[in-house]
Parts: sequence; C-alpha cells; structure tokens
Amino acid sequence: MSFRSVFIAVVIAFALILGAFLINRARPSVETEQPGTAFVRASGKCAECHSRLQYSVVHEYEMSKHAQKGVNCLECHQPAPGQDRKDHHGFVIANARLTAGNCRSCHEQIYQQFLHSRHAAPSCDGTIGTCTACHTRHTSSVAIARLPSTCGQCHMGPDHSQIEIYEESKHGVMFAAQEKLLNLDADPKNLTTRDMFVPTCATCHMSGINGIGITHSEQKKP
Ligand code: HEC
Ligand code: HEC
Ligand code: HEC
Ligand code: HEC
Ligand code: HEC
Ligand code: HEC
Repeated sequence: MSFRSVFIAVVIAFALILGAFLINRARPSVETEQPGTAFVRASGKCAECHSRLQYSVVHEYEMSKHAQKGVNCLECHQPAPGQDRKDHHGFVIANARLTAGNCRSCHEQIYQQFLHSRHAAPSCDGTIGTCTACHTRHTSSVAIARLPSTCGQCHMGPDHSQIEIYEESKHGVMFAAQEKLLNLDADPKNLTTRDMFVPTCATCHMSGINGIGITHSEQKKP
C-alpha cells in the first residue's frame, strides 16, 4: 500500500471520528443522560433482550406516558402481593398473568373504582377483567380507551349490541365522519367538549369532561 492511500485512509478515519463526536455533542441531553441507574437496570436490561424477542412490546412501551415518566418494566412485572414469583435473568418477576393488582401501587383510586365496576367481574370465559382490556398492555393509552371500537370488543352481538346501536346512531355516524378532528389524546384532567365534540361510549360513561371528574366504575350515568 502506498503512503498516499494510507494517508488518505488516516485523514478519512479522523474526519469520521470528529464528525461522530460533533453529532453526538449536538444530541439533546435527554438522549445522552440516562435517567438514573435503577431505570437503566430495569428497563434497559429488559429492553436489551426483549427488543430482539418482541420488538412491538418495547416499542409500544417507549411511546407510552409510562416511559416518559420513568415508570420501568419491572414496576409492572414485579410480583404484586399474593402473586407467585420466578427468577428471570437476574430479576424477580411475577410468575402469573398480570392483573389490575399490578397497577394498583400507583393507581389506587382508579383500582378501587374499577373493583366496584362490572368490568372487574369475571366475564363469560371465566377470566377476571383487566385494565388492559381498554388501555392495552404497553401503550397504556387513553386515546385507545376512548375509541368506541375498544368498548365494542365486548359490547357487541345480539345480547349486548351497544356498539351496533351506537354505530347506527347520529353520534356514531358523526364519530365515523369526524374522528380525525377530535382530540383523542387530550389530557384526561382537562378534557372538554372542544376536544370531544362528538360523544363516544367513554364520553357518556367514564370521561371527566368539562371538569365533572373521571370514573372507572360504570355506575355514573349521564
Ligand atoms: C437475558 C435476556 C433477558 C432479560 C434481561 C429479560 N428477559 Fe424476559 N424473557 C427472555 C426470554 C428469552 C424469554 C422467553 C423464555 C422465558 O420465559 O424465559 C422471556 C420472557 C419474558 C416474559 C414472558 C414470561 C412468560 O411466562 O411467558 C416476560 C413477561 C418477561 N420476559 C419480562 C421481562 C422483564 C420485565 C425483564 C426485566 C425486569 C426481563 N424480562 C428481562 C429474556 C430476557
Ligand atoms: C404499565 C405496566 C407495564 C409496563 C411498564 C411493562 N409491561 Fe410488559 N406487560 C404488562 C401487562 C399487563 C402484560 C400482560 C400480562 C399477562 O397477560 O399476563 C405484559 C406482558 C408482557 C410480556 C409478555 C408478552 C406476551 O406476548 O405474552 C412481555 C415479554 C413484557 N410484558 C415485557 C415488558 C418489557 C420488556 C417492558 C419494558 C420495556 C414492559 N413489559 C413494561 C404490563 C407492563
Ligand atoms: C410505578 C407506578 C405505575 C404503575 C405500576 C403503573 N402506572 Fe400507569 N401511570 C403512572 C404514572 C406516573 C403516570 C403518569 C401520570 C400523569 O402524568 O398524570 C401513569 C399514567 C397512566 C395512564 C394515563 C396515560 C395518559 O396518556 O395519560 C394510564 C392509562 C395508565 N397509567 C395505566 C396503567 C395500567 C393499566 C397499569 C398496570 C398494567 C399501570 N398504569 C401501572 C405510574 C404507574
Ligand atoms: C372499560 C374500559 C377501561 C378499563 C377497564 C380501565 N380504564 Fe382507565 N380509562 C378508560 C378511559 C375511557 C379513560 C379516559 C377517560 C377520559 O376520556 O378522559 C381512562 C383513563 C385512565 C387514566 C388516566 C386518568 C387521569 O386522570 O389522567 C388512568 C391512569 C387509567 N385510566 C388507569 C386505569 C387502571 C389502572 C385500570 C385498571 C384498574 C383501568 N384504567 C381500567 C377506560 C378504562
Ligand atoms: C373486556 C370486555 C369489556 C370491555 C372492553 C368493555 N366492557 Fe363494559 N362491560 C363488560 C361486561 C362483561 C359488563 C357486565 C355486563 C352485564 O352485567 O351484563 C360490562 C358492563 C358495562 C356497563 C354497565 C355497567 C352497569 O353498572 O350496569 C357499561 C356502562 C359499560 N360496560 C361501558 C363500557 C365502556 C364505556 C367501555 C369502553 C370504554 C367498555 N364498557 C368496555 C365488558 C367489557
Ligand atoms: C350519548 C351518551 C351515550 C353514549 C354515546 C353511549 N351510551 Fe351507553 N348508556 C347511556 C345511557 C343514558 C344509558 C342508560 C342508563 C340507564 O338507563 O340507567 C346507557 C346504558 C348503557 C349500558 C347498560 C345496559 C343498557 O343497555 O341499559 C351499557 C352496557 C352501555 N350503555 C354501553 C355503552 C357502549 C359500549 C357505548 C358505545 C358503543 C355506549 N354505551 C354509548 C348513554 C350513552
């Protein structure tokens, strides 16, 4: 190899290193500063393996309010009181299906309301109701919970045809036409009729619209 090509290679390598350094320095501090050792140990380690095993789980978690607020994988997956436990790659996780009990430590009031609702009762296939029936497992989304189709997963068919009735109603027709104009992501604490000017199931049965206060027990009726 001639001196000339070695020299060019060295110059290019130096330019690449300098470029990488400058780009890294320009990254926002939220990307370079890790949010604390406990968070890195839990979510970081879990995510390291699980982004290879189930990319969608980690990706949905990353987009969630929980990730934003630093709630980590282990905080939901650790055994709740009374749950079986198992060793799992250096961690102890629940050896059972997660239930509303795994959300309770941080959402006590909602948990209590939920327990008093029909949604916590065993359903026809014998399983106990969960929070994730409406919020999904890892997005923990209020936007998804506000969709009529979320309620329609169960409130459908001849014996309880609420979704069909809704879809045929003026409200349902307007929802289908104007869904994109609604602010389905609005913060539940400040939800107004400006965000949800067409009512969905949640608006009438659960939402705290215009300051009336959210409920997770379905007793509240408009
Ligand atoms: C070293 C890689 C690795 C790490 C670290 C890891 N897991 Fe896993 N996890 C796996 C593998 C592989 C499986 C599937 C086989 C099994 O159950 O062990 C799995 C399965 C699971 C399951 C399904 C269990 C079941 O019974 O079906 C859950 C839930 C889970 N992991 C959560 C976590 C959480 C939460 C963390 C962090 C606290 C974590 N994992 C850390 C590799 C890992
Ligand atoms: C807000 C609570 C919460 C957080 C945070 C959370 N999970 Fe989960 N996860 C759940 C629930 C609930 C289930 C469903 C468990 C069940 O049905 O038994 C679940 C299921 C899983 C499963 C099993 C998936 C399957 O297809 O059966 C894996 C793997 C998993 N979580 C990994 C993770 C990892 C990795 C993280 C962090 C990146 C994480 N979870 C963060 C609540 C959470
Ligand atoms: C370690 C504490 C912790 C656990 C465990 C936990 N959460 Fe949360 N959750 C939070 C925090 C913190 C927020 C953000 C609250 C806020 O910003 O007002 C939140 C917000 C939420 C939101 C609202 C999201 C939004 O976009 O406004 C939902 C829905 C939610 N959690 C569902 C769950 C469910 C379901 C579980 C159990 C599977 C669970 N959480 C477990 C701490 C937790
Ligand atoms: C029947 C469906 C359903 C179930 C089951 C359910 N939720 Fe919700 N949840 C909703 C809806 C809908 C909203 C949004 C209400 C609104 O429009 O503001 C919500 C809002 C929330 C919020 C945001 C509240 C706030 O003030 O920011 C949290 C946190 C939450 N749910 C946690 C839970 C937990 C924990 C459980 C289980 C104990 C649970 N949810 C079960 C439908 C459900
Ligand atoms: C996982 C299935 C499931 C989902 C999802 C679900 N529900 Fe239900 N819901 C039920 C069951 C089961 C009952 C009890 C039916 C009965 O008592 O006949 C019920 C009962 C109700 C009741 C009647 C409560 C009462 O006190 O009589 C209302 C109102 C209700 N649901 C609203 C909703 C709304 C709004 C949503 C969506 C945000 C929703 N449900 C999502 C299964 C579900
Ligand atoms: C415009 C407000 C509104 C909307 C939208 C709405 N409901 Fe209702 N819902 C009511 C009222 C009012 C009642 C009757 C309460 C009573 O008679 O005690 C009711 C009753 C119910 C009941 C109790 C059983 C019954 O038929 O009496 C269920 C379950 C229910 N709704 C589910 C849903 C679901 C699921 C959706 C969406 C597909 C929905 N509702 C949409 C206002 C609404």
